[in-house]
Amino acid sequence: MERQQLNIGLFGFGCVGEGLYQVLERTPTLKASIRKICIKHPDKKRSITSEIFTTEAPSLLNDPNINVIVELIDDSEAAFVIVKAALLAGKPVVSANKKMLAEHFEELMFLQEQTGCQVLYEAACCASIPLIRNLEEYYDNDLLGGIEGIVNGSTNYILDQMDVRGISFAEALREAQAAGYAESNPALDIEGIDARNKLLILIVHGFGHVLQTSQIFYAGIHKIEAADQAFAKEKGYKIKLLARAAKLANGNLYALVCPSFVPLNSRLAQVGEAYNAVNLQSSFSESQFFLGKGAGAFPTASAVLSDLSALSYGYRYEYRKAGQAVVLANEAELILRIYWRTNGDTQRSALYFQNVEQVFIGQTQGFIIGEISLKNLKLLQSNFRESSFVLVDVLEENKTVFIQDLSLVETLTST
Ligand SMILES: NC(=O)c1ccc[n+]([C@@H]2O[C@H](COP(=O)([O-])OP(=O)(O)OC[C@H]3O[C@@H](n4cnc5c(N)ncnc54)[C@H](OP(=O)(O)O)[C@@H]3O)[C@@H](O)[C@H]2O)c1
Repeated sequence: MERQQLNIGLFGFGCVGEGLYQVLERTPTLKASIRKICIKHPDKKRSITSEIFTTEAPSLLNDPNINVIVELIDDSEAAFVIVKAALLAGKPVVSANKKMLAEHFEELMFLQEQTGCQVLYEAACCASIPLIRNLEEYYDNDLLGGIEGIVNGSTNYILDQMDVRGISFAEALREAQAAGYAESNPALDIEGIDARNKLLILIVHGFGHVLQTSQIFYAGIHKIEAADQAFAKEKGYKIKLLARAAKLANGNLYALVCPSFVPLNSRLAQVGEAYNAVNLQSSFSESQFFLGKGAGAFPTASAVLSDLSALSYGYRYEYRKAGQAVVLANEAELILRIYWRTNGDTQRSALYFQNVEQVFIGQTQGFIIGEISLKNLKLLQSNFRESSFVLVDVLEENKTVFIQDLSLVETLTST
């Protein structure tokens, strides 16, 4: 099939937009060139000639010579307006904006169907790791059991640097921002929202369910302290922010983003810096492990480039699995084994657990290890705001239902 010449209208010339510009300069085989770039601040100093820049979105959207819009801005609502206008103008879109996608997924599916123009967004999930097309194509005929992984580069960088170099949370966050790993609004990263948004997209392509953002429980790393990491290390674990979606034995799906213990000898524990890694579990092929750079100018631009290349051959997501009825695990029945640390009343916290395996009450804080329903965990969190928790495992009928090493539980409960 002959490649189509791509004349790009680019929105955003920040970390990823400028990265894409440079990557395209070094990829002459792809018949693609950037015609105009729309930015927000016209007076900002730029590394390339000023003639190409504009602040007028319509001059890209209405230009008949532009046949693809690449949307790489850091404002999800403005991005949705741009993407919608582009599709209605008959132009396909490549985007890296997971927040925009997660918040408008159904509308975007409808717009693609209505206009016949596609939106590709491989860069929105784990940047350089080719997950979406894999879930869409390769796992189509395979029975996917679960997705588990580190899908946010800046939180992995922060936890890793706190752990390895002993630096503070604030210092590690500053470094992640300076390196271009963190979102413009770092709360999206550290509170787990960015990972939640990515998990929503992975669930669409993995399981065919279009969830609302409010249906995915998330907790971030902003309350994790050096003491929690020391506790994990002492027991032979690391703390990672994991996104997980899996089917329970009754076929119901659960989806969670939260700090989690991973065994030191596991592949996920070895994932350092801003790398991302995802385990996919399927019925016949067991587990596959994907590892790659999950943030930064070039890794993210490389995924945008891959989408542009796919687009030049007319590729589109078919959403073949979409529309499957989803039954989410009941929050009162989804049982989590967690480590809970609180500066508040530890004994009162324990009342929320259905099974307490270990309690420690110190002078300033205490911790509990035990089993709690997701419903009670949410109540506990809202009543003890200055506390943190780390997931040990997800249980079903007191059996471990995901990948974690069971020795974790034994080690914790035997101390
Ligand atoms: N950074 C990463 O590693 C990474 C990884 C994966 C996905 N992403 C996603 O990629 C997107 C871009 O991220 P980034 O890190 O490149 O952001 P960034 O460095 O903050 O750059 C944002 C760019 O968007 C422009 N912009 C903002 N609002 C605009 C509007 N209404 N119209 C036109 N331009 C506008 C800004 O213009 P000015 O230059 O004039 O301020 C700037 O050039 C985000 O959706 C992000 O979630 C980023």
